[in-house]
Amino acid sequence: MRSTMLVKSHRIVHATPAALLIVLAACRPETAPRSIAEPALAADSTIATYNDVPALGSFGPDEALLGGATTVFRTDDEAFEQPAANLDAAGLAQHDAGDDAFGKVFVASTGLGPQFNNPACDGCHVLDGRGVLPAPGQPLESMLLRLSVQGTAGDGGPLGAPGFGGQLQTRGVPPVPAEASVDITLDVTRGRYGDGTPFELRRPRFALRNPHRPLPPGLLISPRVAPPVIGLGLLEAVPVATLERLADPNDRDGDGISGRINVVFDARNGLPGVGRFGVKANTASLFQQTAGAYNGDMGITTSLFPAENCEGNYPQCARKPAEVTDSVLRVNTFYSQTLAVPARRDLNDLTARLGQALFLVTGCASCHTTQLQTGTLAGVPAVSNQTIRPFTDLLIHDMGEGLADDRPDFRASGREWRTAPLWGIGLTKVINPDATFLHDGRARTLAEAILWHGGEAQRSREIFRLLPAHLRGAMLRFLETL
Ligand code: HEC
Ligand code: HEC
Repeated sequence: MRSTMLVKSHRIVHATPAALLIVLAACRPETAPRSIAEPALAADSTIATYNDVPALGSFGPDEALLGGATTVFRTDDEAFEQPAANLDAAGLAQHDAGDDAFGKVFVASTGLGPQFNNPACDGCHVLDGRGVLPAPGQPLESMLLRLSVQGTAGDGGPLGAPGFGGQLQTRGVPPVPAEASVDITLDVTRGRYGDGTPFELRRPRFALRNPHRPLPPGLLISPRVAPPVIGLGLLEAVPVATLERLADPNDRDGDGISGRINVVFDARNGLPGVGRFGVKANTASLFQQTAGAYNGDMGITTSLFPAENCEGNYPQCARKPAEVTDSVLRVNTFYSQTLAVPARRDLNDLTARLGQALFLVTGCASCHTTQLQTGTLAGVPAVSNQTIRPFTDLLIHDMGEGLADDRPDFRASGREWRTAPLWGIGLTKVINPDATFLHDGRARTLAEAILWHGGEAQRSREIFRLLPAHLRGAMLRFLETL
């Protein structure tokens, strides 16, 4: 990836894992740095010293402000539900109206269905955090399966599955049935860290049961757990030019990390647009994401998507006037645009600082971009012109066979995923103790999430796997402070 990112400007990117390991292994916990001025990583021709890692040299209080001026200082289970700290009174009123829309539980008489996944936005985005991968035998509550068959639809996106469309609705408003129910099984694989410590990874498989129509041959399934919805207006305000600068589709700098922009269908103007939202950066705007969620997840029509998302020729699928108004659609969009990001914690924890250095030198930040500058987002001054630390480049990356869903989504292949933002990740289990990680919730811990990295991230993953336990622990400690 061509960029001016911290890590990229360092020779260290090209150090071999073995070279790094020799140096890192020498860094015992008892010799962990007492201050940031002391070298933590011994210097040789390929390895940086602590002072070479700019983020550690510039540790001001600003470093805690992951969401710029929107940042809030909350660490409890309401930490993701806070309005941006810099909203004015009018903005706050709009945000509160959006909060009501986001929490509203729809029923048949208010337009729910006829087929749907969950009757409320916050039924999936639990406390504005993430949903859960259910245990085998349990129904899908806060996750969904995207469906398609081989080919491309008229808008350039996935071709909906005949009889099912682009998403499986696991519930129906009687007499309309659910499209199918879902059976989950977990495939378990085992491995070892470099120091011999064993680990166990599990990968969910999804099978459709009791389909209301015959399953089409060659059905493609992409399981997705509801992601957290904090800081999204800031991500929407990052200029396209920044993403173009970060992208390196042909890996011209030869670091093994490419990163591409997903070009999607912008339903607002019917033109191609830069994708940023959804786990494959498959949606261009929060407005479209919100209208799409009403339509696909809840069976609620809007002016943007006036047809019921309903397959199977039931009379209840007939087109109706918009079931929520444009003003509700707008305030609900404004809500996710103006949810604050919680501040980073334990900024001066030495272990976390060491972990941050390792995060940089192992190449994590080549995708999980540490710092970005927002431009302006029309109508949302609170997220405009902010310095943010989202730990994402909003680009799609080949993450290897292990994570692949084998279902293309606009330009994203079955192996490509959007770099997940890591801000707030340390609070995941405070918000929802059952929450897990990665697009389908397969990773129970942050360590498991890293161990699933492959493809462009294979090298980073291997360095992490081969690190001694205390250095792996330092990286995890760093992630917990985010
Ligand atoms: C059935 C569970 C479910 C419901 C209900 C739901 N969502 Fe989501 N939401 C998801 C999933 C899964 C994704 C990821 C979608 C993808 O990758 O295509 C998502 C993605 C999003 C995103 C983008 C997040 C990101 O990081 O890119 C926003 C914003 C969002 N939802 C808002 C809403 C709103 C607003 C509502 C209610 C109108 C809603 N959601 C209802 C499951 C749900
Ligand atoms: C090539 C780009 C790339 C590199 C390098 C990379 N990541 Fe990731 N990371 C991703 C993508 C893409 C995802 C989302 C994958 C998914 O959901 O299936 C992700 C997801 C994660 C998650 C889970 C996030 C969540 O919300 O569930 C964590 C934690 C994480 N990465 C940490 C790291 C660490 C630590 C490193 C360095 C050892 C690293 N990553 C290196 C691209 C990368």
